Amino acid sequence: MDWGLANRLSRIIKSDGRCVMLAIDHGYFLGPLNRLEKPGETIEPLMEYADALMLTRGVLRTCVPQGADMPMVLRMSGGNSIVGEALSDEGLMTSIEDAIRVNASAITLSVYIGTKHEKQTLLNLGRLVDAGEKYGLPVLAVTAVGKELEKRDARYLKLCCRICSEIGAHFVKTYYCDDFEEVTGSCPVPIVIAGGPKLDTPQDAINMARAAIERGACGVDMGRNVWQNDDAVGMIKSIRDVVHG
Ligand code: R5P
Repeated sequence: MDWGLANRLSRIIKSDGRCVMLAIDHGYFLGPLNRLEKPGETIEPLMEYADALMLTRGVLRTCVPQGADMPMVLRMSGGNSIVGEALSDEGLMTSIEDAIRVNASAITLSVYIGTKHEKQTLLNLGRLVDAGEKYGLPVLAVTAVGKELEKRDARYLKLCCRICSEIGAHFVKTYYCDDFEEVTGSCPVPIVIAGGPKLDTPQDAINMARAAIERGACGVDMGRNVWQNDDAVGMIKSIRDVVHG
């Protein structure tokens, strides 16, 4: 791994090998989600407890203070919407030059394995890895399931994570599932988990983070289960304790 790429990745995955990423990129296909109508107000009290933010360039430029001293993981894929025909129909919507211009520490995209757009999203990943390697930016691949949440089992997710690593992703974001150690055990790069839709209780989300760490995840990249919680600060502090504690 080149020095610049490794250095950027080390800003996100800390010296203990763990990371707490806060995901606020949902608006790229969901619009103004509940509690993310004003992203700047949502993240202001949470930033000090997160190791990195995952977001689009639009939210970065309009809602994040320019002096923010934390790594940004920039979403590069999109072109879809919740009211469009297929969530899986994504292309690359941001150039590597603009990722560098906004001082991104890593770049990210979604892949939709097992859908009719599988090939185009995997080719997107290949192109992004080529660009990331050229300029020293690590690539986070997200194994997206769109509306098909029932896909989240170990058999499917370990296939997805392994394919992402084979194409060259430097770390992978996936969902927690039963037998999660099979997913982490067959993927040679670090894995972070998404939270998914808000769970019944805050404790459910904390337990999920703990179980993921115990089964080999290096951290979390959570959104809704943090900032849709009435006590979002308490929630991210608890998650941070679980991940780094
Ligand atoms: C999809 O909208 C994004 O990639 C999110 O960043 C991802 O789903 C994680 O957020 P959450 O924890 O809300 O699922």
